[in-house]
Amino acid sequence: MKKFKRYLITSALPYANGPIHIGHLAGVYVPSDIFTRYLRMKGEDVISICGSDEHGVPITLKARKEGVSPQEIVDRYHTINKKAFEDFGIAFDIYSRTSNKVHYETASDFFLTLYNKGKFTEKTSEQYYDEEAGTFLADRYIMGICPHCGNESAYGDQCEKCGTSLSPSDLINPHSTISGSKPVLRNTRHWYLPLDKYEPWLKKWILEDHKEWKTNVYGQCKSWLDQGLQPRAVSRDLDWGVPVPVKDAKGKVLYVWFDAPIGYISATKELTPDWEKYWKDEETKMVHFIGKDNIVFHCIIFPAMLKAEGSFILPDNVPANEFLNLENDKISTSRNWAVWLHEYLEDFPGKQDILRYSLCASAPETKDNDFTWKEFQARNNNELVAILGNFINRTLVLTTNYYEGKVPERGKTTPEDEAVLKEIPLIRQNVETSLETYRFREALREAMNLARLGNKYLADSEPWKVIKTDAERVKTIMNVSLQITANLTIILEPFLPFSMEKLRKFINCSILKWNYAGRTDLLVAGHLINKPELLFEKIGDDEIAKQIDRLQATKKSNEEASMKMIPVKDPVSFDDFSKIDIRTATVLEAEKVPKTTKLLKLRIDTGIDIRTIVSGIAEYYEPAALIGKQISIVANLEPRKIKGTESKGMILMAEDKDGKLVIVSPAEKINNGSVIK
Ligand code: MF3
Ligand code: ZN
Repeated sequence: MKKFKRYLITSALPYANGPIHIGHLAGVYVPSDIFTRYLRMKGEDVISICGSDEHGVPITLKARKEGVSPQEIVDRYHTINKKAFEDFGIAFDIYSRTSNKVHYETASDFFLTLYNKGKFTEKTSEQYYDEEAGTFLADRYIMGICPHCGNESAYGDQCEKCGTSLSPSDLINPHSTISGSKPVLRNTRHWYLPLDKYEPWLKKWILEDHKEWKTNVYGQCKSWLDQGLQPRAVSRDLDWGVPVPVKDAKGKVLYVWFDAPIGYISATKELTPDWEKYWKDEETKMVHFIGKDNIVFHCIIFPAMLKAEGSFILPDNVPANEFLNLENDKISTSRNWAVWLHEYLEDFPGKQDILRYSLCASAPETKDNDFTWKEFQARNNNELVAILGNFINRTLVLTTNYYEGKVPERGKTTPEDEAVLKEIPLIRQNVETSLETYRFREALREAMNLARLGNKYLADSEPWKVIKTDAERVKTIMNVSLQITANLTIILEPFLPFSMEKLRKFINCSILKWNYAGRTDLLVAGHLINKPELLFEKIGDDEIAKQIDRLQATKKSNEEASMKMIPVKDPVSFDDFSKIDIRTATVLEAEKVPKTTKLLKLRIDTGIDIRTIVSGIAEYYEPAALIGKQISIVANLEPRKIKGTESKGMILMAEDKDGKLVIVSPAEKINNGSVIK
């Protein structure tokens, strides 16, 4: 394995358009913090970089919605998020932001270097333009009717109701969300990074040279590379962002995913004048901590940018995590389905470590995972209190009671004592191995094994009984227990920094060197410890019920809101209704529409003809399961082209409030072409 001289740890720059929740913490910031703290304790040269990602369309949209400037939005959330990280002990060396001057300069220079080296291609294409507002429109700024589900407020890039990804030209009756006018197509010129040219190099670098990357990361990269890479535009027509620093680029800014990762570089510059050794020396190990939605940007696009520039190192690893769900439902800011960090601290003041612990213990390392309040309670009561807290408390209280807080001599040791003492360096080794391969759940489990070991040792040796018959023996038992305790303050520090700091105060020992872990002489005989307090306390059912109730109330109000959104439509005359020709039909063939996730192309027998219908049900039905199924269709709907296929008619479906679709079939088999009325 290659030996590195120093480490550069980056954590995804969160968008400054909303607060941080437990999903962010579990996926990115807790693991990156554990890793960084561990390296610092080893005495490595390490810096940990983060900051706010302050550009991009969602920020301008939010600003417009609130009637304030984008700067006001990013100022607000930059402050909130910076504080939330500090509150949870996520110890970045710098928490910067991409709206500052260093970043503008760094990102501009980076673009210019690539531009001057001829690394970009330029292309003119047609894009939607709002003539009334005098501005090009990002896809998100265009709304209209979804051609698949009829949702009247679908966006130009996606219909949030049926989930189909769209382009603005798919929308029926598109309108600009800025002026309400109908957008027109206009030519616009942009710069592209020709990723296709980097494909062979990326294939070698990732697929051959980085087989050790996590399977979820490697797999996603492989699937992108197998599909073939396309040139990517690195500029946008927008008035919020880093201006494209060349002539004739008025109204154009760098694409947010071009400028944001450069934010890692600018933040390093802001941190230290010596920044180049972290970015330009092959002996630096760079590690990107991110969530799975960021993989392509950190494993493919940013590396291609760095390669094109030529003087920067590439990441050694990108240990991306999957997503964390909350009580069996996807975390969602807009539905307020989340545990926000500031809210948690209001209800559990001073208890950051419990959340850090349970998020690490059930982190979505290999697949999506679920956070539940019940599990949170169990982790606290059954592990932190019953194992770790119990061991520490017994050790410290007995030491205080028997020896007035003075560490007793370790006398003649038994084989049991020796076995326990020998186990400590082994546990340290296991924790180390897991941490260095980014298996944080495993590392935490191993570290807790030290507390388990101590707990069992005390339970087996029963000093509180032995004290009545063999006071000398108890001295040895307590000495061994105190060595375990001192080791815990080191080995658990990366995971539980708040509690271990307290514990170090209790035992009056401030050693914070990883390499001391495993030693059995950390507390010498005669050393005086302080009066202990409880480190962890049980969390009662009432406290958990309160959290669950709150989520249930959220769910209820979301349901009410979404039910309210579909009022009964205006009355229609019977004549109008009977213009619609609804019939039974049978599916003959079904296949997925390539490059879409929701669409199926069906050949159906209507009793009158055989025709093709494209329908947005791929998420709910396997093509094979539909063959032979009887369905109902609107037979006289005007034909429509969907993704290049002419769709004649529409399949009738029932949709519930969550957007789940179910085909409406006749209750019993009936001839195809029967009229439904
Ligand atoms: N803001 C992005 C997100 O929250 C992450 C940006 S990471 C960086 O998904 F590479 F741009 F820094
Ligand atoms: Zn839709």
